[in-house]
Amino acid sequence: MQALPLAGAGAVLLVKSLRDGQAQRRRLESLMDEYRQLFNTPTDRLLALRDALVQQLEAGLAGQPGGLMALPSYVDVLPSGRERGDCYAIDLGGTNLRVAHVKLGEQRGATEATHIREWEIPEEHFDTDRGSLLRFVAQCTAEVIREHSGAAGGGGPAGAKPVVGFCFSFPVDQTALDNGKVLVWTKNFRGSYLIGQDVVAALRSELAAAGVDAEVPAVMNDTVATLVALRYSEPDTQLGIILGTGTNCAYLERAEAIGKLPAGYRGRTPAMVVNSEWGDFRSPLLPTCQEDLWIDCSSPHPGNGLFEKQISGLYLGEVARRILLRLAEKEGLFGGTLGLLSRHFVLTTADMAACDQDDTPDLHAVAGVLERVLEIRKTSLQQRRLVQEVCQLVCLRSARLCAAAITGVLQRVGHPCGSCSAGGGGSGSGAPAPPVAIAVDGSVFEKYARFRERLRAALEDVCGKAAADSIRLQLAKDGSVLGAAYLGVAAAQFEGNGGTA
Ligand code: BGC
Repeated sequence: MQALPLAGAGAVLLVKSLRDGQAQRRRLESLMDEYRQLFNTPTDRLLALRDALVQQLEAGLAGQPGGLMALPSYVDVLPSGRERGDCYAIDLGGTNLRVAHVKLGEQRGATEATHIREWEIPEEHFDTDRGSLLRFVAQCTAEVIREHSGAAGGGGPAGAKPVVGFCFSFPVDQTALDNGKVLVWTKNFRGSYLIGQDVVAALRSELAAAGVDAEVPAVMNDTVATLVALRYSEPDTQLGIILGTGTNCAYLERAEAIGKLPAGYRGRTPAMVVNSEWGDFRSPLLPTCQEDLWIDCSSPHPGNGLFEKQISGLYLGEVARRILLRLAEKEGLFGGTLGLLSRHFVLTTADMAACDQDDTPDLHAVAGVLERVLEIRKTSLQQRRLVQEVCQLVCLRSARLCAAAITGVLQRVGHPCGSCSAGGGGSGSGAPAPPVAIAVDGSVFEKYARFRERLRAALEDVCGKAAADSIRLQLAKDGSVLGAAYLGVAAAQFEGNGGTA
């Protein structure tokens, strides 16, 4: 007799839980739809972003407020490929410090030997007030110089001082090739150390303290070094881009268009490489979601680098993690389990790429990342599909934004790809666009194949297939160290400073 009411209550509960489950799935889908629309940024919006970036770049060149930093590099003649000799190169700016010894070969543009050493930067140095970043850099550099010269302070022709090209991947204010006041720290570096001071003078004195008397004739951004590195062998290279921990672009500008250069500036040629610092591009049109706002306000540099935070390797995994956390917390994606999803930066961009690129029928790699990284086990195929889609969307947004920015800089240099309207029309002449090479370095570009595919597809959306085919995105592997070495040698062989041969 009592069984019936209980069975009745059970049935009611069952129906209710089915309804709740359906409602939750609907909410999950509608939230996913919002991300799909936002992250698959429509082409018209990319075109508007492209034009806004050009405006900010131009304001920056003129030194107007609201512009990008657009920093003159004082690289006004690129190395010719005929430089000879050996040089050391320091590459500081990512997770690792790299110091190289490079011997330039007899053939034009050839390197005879490149020996690169790498150190993980100890955590304390990221907080520059706490650590002693340049002391660490100088000690590592001294080790490499000793290895190659047999004695501290040696190297190169007998008696000559070793030459060090310094690739320093943060915004600096230069008045010549061999100086640069640090403007801000970016990425994970923070603190007030060196802000407003000349980073080259500081490096020289730390090298001296480490027992090395070296010449440091050139300091440059990694984008500048990357442009130089490829241009050495590919003369139609116009842009150097980094898509790694951070992102940025340098390009060749007409010196007369750089309004912020000191009055009376006379370069060796009419051109100069400009470091755009495009990571700071900002626009209400950016496809920003609430996760971006959280990432920004909990970062060491809130309000800065907003574009970089939607694009580069330091953040992509974190954007994906936060979206998954929202889906799990609010819409029960994993049936109430959160695993380690609440832990900041636990999901790296490499993990995200592994999920994105998993082609196995049961999404084996996605399951692996969920278990190993997030401690979420026994997931269904449906859940894994959703995780994969989130990763794909985060990558898609980054690639599409990057395409908008690239075409913006191409517009600035007068390449027809930069003035297309949606689908490729608009450049006017109908003539085929001249080929342009873009040197790209950084782990996102190098190691994330689907990112490269999406970037190429987005360029076709923005400029049309024919025009996009004129853009050659070329990996400039080790561009930062090689470019630093080429510029170092060129600058040391040049009389005076402020430019290179
Ligand atoms: C820095 C740039 C640098 C880029 C890539 C950004 O955070 O501001 O100077 O080129 O990262 O390393």
